[in-house]
Amino acid sequence: MPGVFQLSVDEAVREVSGAVAVGVNAVLLFGIPAKKDDRATGAYAKNGIVQKAVRALKNEFPELLVITDVCLCEYMSHGHCGIVSVTRGQGKVLNDPSLRLLARTAVSHAEAGADIVAPSDMMDGRVGAIRMALDGAGFSDTPIMSYAAKYASAYYGPFRDAADSAPKFGDRRSYQMDAANAEEALREVQLDLEEGADIVMVKPALAYLDILYRVKKTFGYPTAAYAVSGEYSMMKAAAANGWVDERAVIMESLLGMRRAGADIIITYAACDVARWLADG
Ligand code: PBG
Ligand code: ZN
Repeated sequence: MPGVFQLSVDEAVREVSGAVAVGVNAVLLFGIPAKKDDRATGAYAKNGIVQKAVRALKNEFPELLVITDVCLCEYMSHGHCGIVSVTRGQGKVLNDPSLRLLARTAVSHAEAGADIVAPSDMMDGRVGAIRMALDGAGFSDTPIMSYAAKYASAYYGPFRDAADSAPKFGDRRSYQMDAANAEEALREVQLDLEEGADIVMVKPALAYLDILYRVKKTFGYPTAAYAVSGEYSMMKAAAANGWVDERAVIMESLLGMRRAGADIIITYAACDVARWLADG
């Protein structure tokens, strides 16, 4: 993925320091453990990579908003977002047993000092399970930004490559959404809000601006758009070939997300965008 790398905690602090310097005020963290297993142990380890990074970043930049992606796929040897059971050679992602691990992961992030947790797994009921676990652990003030309408998308390719998190078998269609279905996105968002989500996200962004618009219009909640790795990489590649003007196309696409109703945009171009905005 162009310009996006796996970083150690030290390197992450340096990277964020550069981001803060140009005016970026929030970051979203993803972790890659030294060892993956079939229980995603690294996801909720007290000294896991994200927990360490959160502590280091909050220590270094107390004003920075630190959001953590809560999922299991980067920590699972099989690359799925939940627990997998195999019967007769067929793997199946188990929804309910995964909730406990997701909740545990979210609490461990909050304990490390995360300002917002962002579950991206798309298991049913995870927002409620995480809300209950956070409240029970004394983190009733920690908000949840849920990846509420997350589609099973080919646009996640560069991320999975960078995070080494592509599923080893099958795909994510048993938990992520069908690209053809718009109504289900609204139901997913409604469920997440009922379970206690504070911010709802639509992902990917560009190919789903209609969904973004409907989510904002229907619920009026703080709504985030995630401009995913594939969207970013396509623009970078086209720009590198001299086919499009990088700054112009990135700004135009982010503007489209704002126009469609995004209150928050998550983008790999954040540092560039902050610089462009600063120089008008
Ligand atoms: C983890 C997760 C993914 C992304 C964000 N969180 C990968 C996936 O669902 O396969 C994708 C981000 C991107 O493509 O930029 N569940
Ligand atoms: Zn995942």
